[in-house]
Amino acid sequence: MSKITIEGQNLLSGEVKISGAKNSAVALLPAAVLANKKSVIYNVPEIKDIGYLIEIMELLNCKIEQKDDALYIDSSKMKNVPIPEELSVQMRASYYFMGALLAKYGKVEISFPGGCNIGARPIDIHIKGFEELGAKVEIVKNRYTITAEKLVGKTIYFDFPSVGATINIMLAATGAEGTTIIENAAMEPEIVNVASFLINMGIEVRGAGTKRIEIVGTRKTTDAVIEVFPDRIESGTYIIIGALLGDNLKIKGIIKEHIEALLIKLKEIGIDFVIDGDTMTISRCENLRAVKVKTLVFPGFPTDLQQPITTLLTQAKGKSIVEETLYENRFRNTYDLNRMGAITNILTLNKLEIKGPRKLKGTNVIATDLRGGASLLIAGLIAEGTTVIENCDVILRGYSHLTTKLQNIGAKIEITE
Ligand code: EPZ
Repeated sequence: MSKITIEGQNLLSGEVKISGAKNSAVALLPAAVLANKKSVIYNVPEIKDIGYLIEIMELLNCKIEQKDDALYIDSSKMKNVPIPEELSVQMRASYYFMGALLAKYGKVEISFPGGCNIGARPIDIHIKGFEELGAKVEIVKNRYTITAEKLVGKTIYFDFPSVGATINIMLAATGAEGTTIIENAAMEPEIVNVASFLINMGIEVRGAGTKRIEIVGTRKTTDAVIEVFPDRIESGTYIIIGALLGDNLKIKGIIKEHIEALLIKLKEIGIDFVIDGDTMTISRCENLRAVKVKTLVFPGFPTDLQQPITTLLTQAKGKSIVEETLYENRFRNTYDLNRMGAITNILTLNKLEIKGPRKLKGTNVIATDLRGGASLLIAGLIAEGTTVIENCDVILRGYSHLTTKLQNIGAKIEITE
């Protein structure tokens, strides 16, 4: 099991470039099977999850070539075969093959992982959406067989604006007869990224990025290209690192509109930065102020930056409160943060209190999940002494070239076996 070893308290300067968004890319690959024959996806991040998706697509007899950060996909000789459990349970986002293959073939067989370590994360909203479109869903243990003689478009109301369900139903609706309307749709940027790809295939999609999305089903699509948006969560993570250790650190690939809630919160904490075009310059800030953070669906404060900002708030003067409204178990990083000297206290399932400022000391810690691991990595970068993060693969899943990017801006960090 690989580990990350960090010598803390090094100022960081120079430039770091944000890669393509994991949460867009993992949906764009399955969506590519809906193109007529060929598609190209630019700015694909180099992370493990992409490797798993490529394996599944090659199993479906898609031809995939990688040139730099672009994937050239040919689905003209594709076969709809059951997706084996050992592949599809590696990552949750394999569930996007449900919508894509249902639209293309009217049938999909796939296993799906249950919850994960940040919460139960059911997919009832996805399943209800497929059934509303006329599909039959059989579930035996965690094996899903979804079939549809015919998918018929209709208005579907989401009880919760689920990102995954919005994308999955959008994909399925492309194969439905007539128009599908998703009411109470998620508005995250990744929805817009996927919708743009479908539009580039000649599919009529309107309203992506709003709460109401209209998709007109079609059997005819063209070849298409798309570029993956820069990763708003990766950029938020590096911005938080810059606020703690930056020395005129430049972060390239910022889309302000995608991280507005974070930027407003950082100002409230007393953090200064300059954004020029797509590049932010940020330096270490003193006298950070304690604040309240409440995670919400987009455009609210993103849950995926809750754990990273928790580490920042251990350095703020006073008592901060973090309220996590999306997941029921997303404070697992606080155990090791406290072992490093932070004072955090889980008040309720969804509420965390953080008292600061506190000097952190390096020690051995374990990454519990992707963003919890990012929180511990940030703690290691600011802590005195050495921090060793076990189970670091969970972090490398969501941050491409993590240690190289950090080494290039001056961090003393390496991956050891
Ligand atoms: C996506 O997960 C992201 N993952 C998550 O990022 C992110 O935290 C989440 O959106 C919210 O922004 C990918 O895009 C691969 P949801 P997703 O459906 O689609 C409940 C990361 O760190 N829910 O909006 O699964 C669910 O349990 C990851 O990069 C249902 O109850 O998010 C959760 O509490 C973590 N039933 C909430 O909604 C459903 O059918 C948000 O889920 C679907 C979801």
